[in-house]
This record gives sequence, C-alpha cells and structure tokens, in this order.
Amino acid sequence: MEIVICRTKEEASRKAADMVAALVKKNPKCVLGLATGSTPVLMYSELAKDVKAKKISFKNVRSWNLDEYYGLAPTHDQSYRYFMNANFFDRIDIKKANTHVLNGLAKDWRKECAAYEKAIKAAGGIDLQVLGIGSDGHIAFNEPGSSLASRTRLVSLTPQTIKDNARFFAKASDVPRHALSMGVGTICEAKKVVLLAFGANKADAVKAAVEGGMSQFCTASALQAHNDAWFFCDAAAAAKLKLRKFYAWRSETVLASL
Ligand code: F6R
Repeated sequence: MEIVICRTKEEASRKAADMVAALVKKNPKCVLGLATGSTPVLMYSELAKDVKAKKISFKNVRSWNLDEYYGLAPTHDQSYRYFMNANFFDRIDIKKANTHVLNGLAKDWRKECAAYEKAIKAAGGIDLQVLGIGSDGHIAFNEPGSSLASRTRLVSLTPQTIKDNARFFAKASDVPRHALSMGVGTICEAKKVVLLAFGANKADAVKAAVEGGMSQFCTASALQAHNDAWFFCDAAAAAKLKLRKFYAWRSETVLASL
C-alpha cells in the first residue's frame, strides 16, 4: 500500500486524477473500475478538464462500476447509473456503450452478477479500480462481515451505511436496503487500485484499513495484500495514522520516481 497524504481533498483528487490520466495516456484501451459517492466527484471533474484540454481521451476506454442499489431503475436520480452519467460519462468523450453499471432492476440477480464478472474477465480484467471508503471501512458495498474472497452478488446495507447515504435521499427510509456489488475478491483482482478518503469521518476507517489487521470487519483492509494499491487521503482522513509522517515522505519519493 502507498499512502499519499495531501493537505486538501482538491490536491489529493488532482494527484489521483494524474494517476488515472497517466494510465489512459499509456493505454487508451484500458479498463477502468469506477466508484460513485461524494468522494470521487472532484477527481472526475479534474479528468473531465483534462479531456476538455485534449490532454487525454476516453474514446476507447471501457468501464465497470462497483455497485448499484437493488430496486432502483437506471433513470432514478439516486441510481449509480444516473450518478455516473451526470458526474462523469456525460462530461467526457467515453462511448456510453463501453460503460457498465449493474442493473438494479435485474429479476435474476445471480445471472446479472455472474454475467458482470464474466464480462470483466472477457475484457481482460480491470487495469485500475477507483474506490472510496465507507465510514465503517467498506469498499463497494462490502460491509463488515463480507468475505474477503467475495464475488459480485446481492448484499445488504448496514444501518451505518443507510444513515451515511440518507443525505442523498429525501428521508432515510427511502435508502434501498440492498445492492448489487462487486466482491472484495473481485476488487482485489484489479491490477492497480486508487482509493480516495477525505474528511475526519473517514479517519477511523483509514486507520483500520492501513494499520489494523486484515479483517472482514474492515473490508478495505484486504488491500494490504494488494501489490499496487494507492490511498489518496486529505490531512483529516489521515490524521489517525500512526506512521503518517513516514507514509507522506515515502510516497513523495515513490510518486517522483513514476
Ligand atoms: C460507491 C461505493 C461506496 C462508497 C463509500 C463512500 O460506489 O462503492 O463504497 O465509495 O460508501 O461514499 P462517499 O464517497 O459518499 O463517502
């Protein structure tokens, strides 16, 4: 794991965008794994700026998103498909047909999830996976207690995640209780992982993921066994890390050598 600690989320988002942009430049046909939530929005804006400035193009990029609320139509304004179109896909030159989000209305969720995994494999696997982190340490919707070997499947949201995500809905009871989500095992197969974490309410999760034991009670901790996982944190999210000064110094050296 490399932990990049920045003063602000703006700085961290730009650095993470640089890592994604470098891959897209090097491999214009790369396969991206993408996340929703409030955390990656700034990074998506930075990448959209790069496209507008003609520094990069997503014309031949293919993408697979992490998750989707189960029961929400893609046209629902809180669905993750809607979010991705509004915050990223409609602002860059990617072909919509090359973007994939799990179908929250799939009648047979097993078939939907198996086909999703198969399609990722057929595309050659995910080259770079973008992640946020839940306040309970989840990645995608792999809540505490999810097997670290889990694959794409139907999952249940914890009361904590329902509470955290209620800010996007009119009321907490509107937040779906279930989702389709890539598994921890699926995510860890990505060749490179870029996780973003901002704000004091992520500090405990970041601490558990980076410096706690590897455990299904903090599914982001599975990334400790990944050999190319990057955490881009702002100062508040990194505040509880014991070795934060060391990580900051080390990542500067490593980033400069890329
Ligand atoms: C989103 C996702 C979630 C979020 C996490 C953090 O696709 O899979 O794991 O990354 O819940 O959400 P925010 O960024 O809203 O704090």
